[in-house]
This record gives sequence, C-alpha cells and structure tokens, in this order.
Amino acid sequence: MGLFITFEGSEGCGKSTQARLLAEHLRSVGYQVSHVREPGGTAIGDQIRSIVLGMQNTEIDPTAESLLFSASRAQLVNQIIRPQLAAGGIVICDRYADSTYAYQGYGLGRDLADLRTVTTKATGGLVPHVTIWLRIDPAVGLRRKLHPDASAIEWNRLDAHELAFHQRVAHGYEMLANADPTRWVTCDAEQSIEALAAHIRTSVLPFLHAAHGAISSVTERTTP
Ligand code: TYD
Repeated sequence: MGLFITFEGSEGCGKSTQARLLAEHLRSVGYQVSHVREPGGTAIGDQIRSIVLGMQNTEIDPTAESLLFSASRAQLVNQIIRPQLAAGGIVICDRYADSTYAYQGYGLGRDLADLRTVTTKATGGLVPHVTIWLRIDPAVGLRRKLHPDASAIEWNRLDAHELAFHQRVAHGYEMLANADPTRWVTCDAEQSIEALAAHIRTSVLPFLHAAHGAISSVTERTTP
C-alpha cells in the first residue's frame, strides 16, 4: 500500500496551489505521484462535477447533491486511487470525504451519520493516511477568491452561499481535525505560499517515513 494524502480547506485557502507544489516536490525527489481533485479526477467524475457545481443547478435536491459527490468519489477511488496505492505510489487528492462532512454535514446540516454510511459505501472504507488542512478565516478566503487579480478562479454553486455557511464549514473542519489529530495536520493558510509549502513538505515527512518500504520511488525501481 502506498501513501494517500488529502488536502482540505475552505474557499480561497490556496489548497490547489499547495497540492500541486507538494506533488511537484515529491516527483522531483523520485516518487510516483498521482495528483487528482474532487469532485472529478476521472472522465466520469468530471461530468458529475459539472452537474454538482454548475451555477444553473440551484434546484438540486440535497440528497441528490450528496449522492453525486459520492458517485464521483467512488469512480475516483476505484479507477485511480486504489490502483495507484496498490502499485506503491503516492496519491495527492485535492478534497475527499472530509469535504462532504464539512460542506454537506456541518455547512448544510445534512445528517453526519448518513453521510458517513454513504461515504463508506463509495470508498470501501478508504481513509487518507494524512490530511493537510489549510486553515483560513472564511471571510479572508472568500475575499481572496473574489479579488480581481485572482487568476483562473472558477466561481461555483457552493461558493455562492452566504458567509455564515462558510463559517459553519470552517467550524466543521475544526471539529473533524480535533476528532482525529493523528491524521490531520493543521496549517496556517494565511502565511506566504513559500512558507506554507515548506511547512507542508516537513509535515508529510513522518508519514513518508512511516510508509517507507510500502511506497516505491522511481530511483528504487530503476536500480538494478
Ligand atoms: P472547486 O472549484 O474545486 O473549489 P476549491 O478550489 O474550493 O476546491 O470546488 C469544489 C467545491 O465543491 C467546493 O465549494 C467544495 C465543494 N464540495 C462539497 O461541497 N462536497 C464535497 O464532497 C466535495 C468534494 C466538494
């Protein structure tokens, strides 16, 4: 089994940039890394993404919404994540099941036990080895996302919720991280991109060491 790393956080926390930087770093030191995002990450998942995040789909039923996130996740887990882990690689996933608990559970008030049941079904019980939470004040994150200099930002249906929703999501992350401190690494997302990237690289080291032997690097594979 390889190493499964997820990134979580509220809007505008810089998660996608940091996930990309970590993937680039780990590849540069010789690891096999798959970098994917949710919802999406597969051809089928990307089609589900356009339904579930589409600004036009405001009438989406809350149960349909949760099931669509889970459907995209099931496809991603079975098509990409499990095979990559079984081959001894590293998977970096930009959002995973904790987004469902934070957004649909804490944010929208859906029943957490129900969400956990559906998630377990979708993932076959696959839980990340480490979850990097980029913690940010939701008001700061939303301002960052709306800033005219913010490049290539997609404004999606969930972003359009009121600030109180995003505060509930942030509180949800707090609860989830507190409940499982050995898996969650909490990072201050309001520091510079470089300082945050360095902090994340250091934070994953113990997990890389713990997984050593279970994960393979390109260098190890090509050594005769
Ligand atoms: P995305 O454009 O990828 O934004 P971000 O950069 O914030 O990840 O949009 C993903 C959106 O989907 C984001 O608003 C969080 C939401 N989401 C859920 O509500 N539940 C989920 O299970 C997942 C995976 C995402």
